[in-house]
Amino acid sequence: MTKYDFDEIVPRKNTNCIKYDFAKERGMPEGLLPMWVADMDFRTPPEVIERLVEVARHGIFGYSEVKDDYYGSVVGWFGRRLGHAFPKNSVVKTPGVVYALSLAIRAFTGPGDPVIVQTPVYYPFSGTVLQNGRRIVDNTLLYRNGRYYMDFADLEKKIVSEKAKLLLLCSPHNPVSRVWTPDELAELAGICLRHGCLIVSDEIHCDFVFGDRRHHILASIDKALDEICVTLTAPSKTFNLAGLQISNVFLPNPELKRLFKAEITRSGFSQLNAMGLAACQAAYDHGEPWLAALLEYLEANLALCESFFRDRLAPLRLIETEGTYLIWIDFKPLGLSHDEANKLVIEKAKLWLDEGTMFGPSGANFQRMNVACPRSVLLEALERLEKAIK
Ligand SMILES: Cc1ncc(COP(=O)(O)O)c(C=O)c1O
Repeated sequence: MTKYDFDEIVPRKNTNCIKYDFAKERGMPEGLLPMWVADMDFRTPPEVIERLVEVARHGIFGYSEVKDDYYGSVVGWFGRRLGHAFPKNSVVKTPGVVYALSLAIRAFTGPGDPVIVQTPVYYPFSGTVLQNGRRIVDNTLLYRNGRYYMDFADLEKKIVSEKAKLLLLCSPHNPVSRVWTPDELAELAGICLRHGCLIVSDEIHCDFVFGDRRHHILASIDKALDEICVTLTAPSKTFNLAGLQISNVFLPNPELKRLFKAEITRSGFSQLNAMGLAACQAAYDHGEPWLAALLEYLEANLALCESFFRDRLAPLRLIETEGTYLIWIDFKPLGLSHDEANKLVIEKAKLWLDEGTMFGPSGANFQRMNVACPRSVLLEALERLEKAIK
């Protein structure tokens, strides 16, 4: 028992949250149990709430900036927890990771240029490439015996044949929940270094790694990566702060940093939200005990999923969740088409999940489910699924 009660149901309906309040607007029937968008049904740590109340009570919300101590808190987190010392002066703050992804594409490539993505992957990866008038080169992940792998031969071939100069990495990988091993990251890095292909590494899920696995920051794999690697991070997944729009990008290469900052200026953006900055620093300074308790709770949620899928949801196949709080379910053994499986989830199970093709064509007949919720809610979702497939 910890001092944090993750079993508590914190009502979210009528709080303008997109998970519970916008089914109709997003083309979904009312009354589904929402297990989709990647935020959590848990309150952020008490220390973060207290800090935000303090800022709110001050009552003046003028233009705000941060000083050296903020950068110390940010780099301290990654140094302490993941053993990589990013220089303080490599940090650039952005109002979100997807925003940073989009700016990086604009800063480092030109119209029509190829950008490599590894589908199935978090849908804004492909979205931002296309919306910025760049071209997707898909280095599709390999799916072998229920586990996903990178296809290095295909990657190198495509970097060379397409003359690709940018790859978007998702690490840990949403939605297939892989935690890439140091060997895999080193092989990827080797290929990109050989061919001068920049890597934008989205590591927003880095704090959610389970079992005895460890997240390895890509930039920590090889010093030479400082030249070609940009790391995207945020406290938003870890501490449930997505609505505060705060993220931190690490650009150790001064030229890449200059190009990226110029793109931020061009976009008309200058200062971040004062609440986001305060929450980020409070979370990184004081949030570790809460996170340790949260990870324990999530591991137990994942263990429940594992046993439930094994004992009561056959033939659905649960992909082993190495990282993230998003489970990836293979519906193919059910023998339905993708659309039929989708209908079953929505109309019979009355669940709102993320259907797999959102993440690319290779996601067909998969569904993603968010398990960062009280156990009773998760159990309800699993039981709905059981009833629907029986
Ligand atoms: C891999 C990945 N990157 C980025 C984001 C969103 O980041 P932000 O809200 O900071 O744009 C998500 C949210 O689900 C994600 O899974």
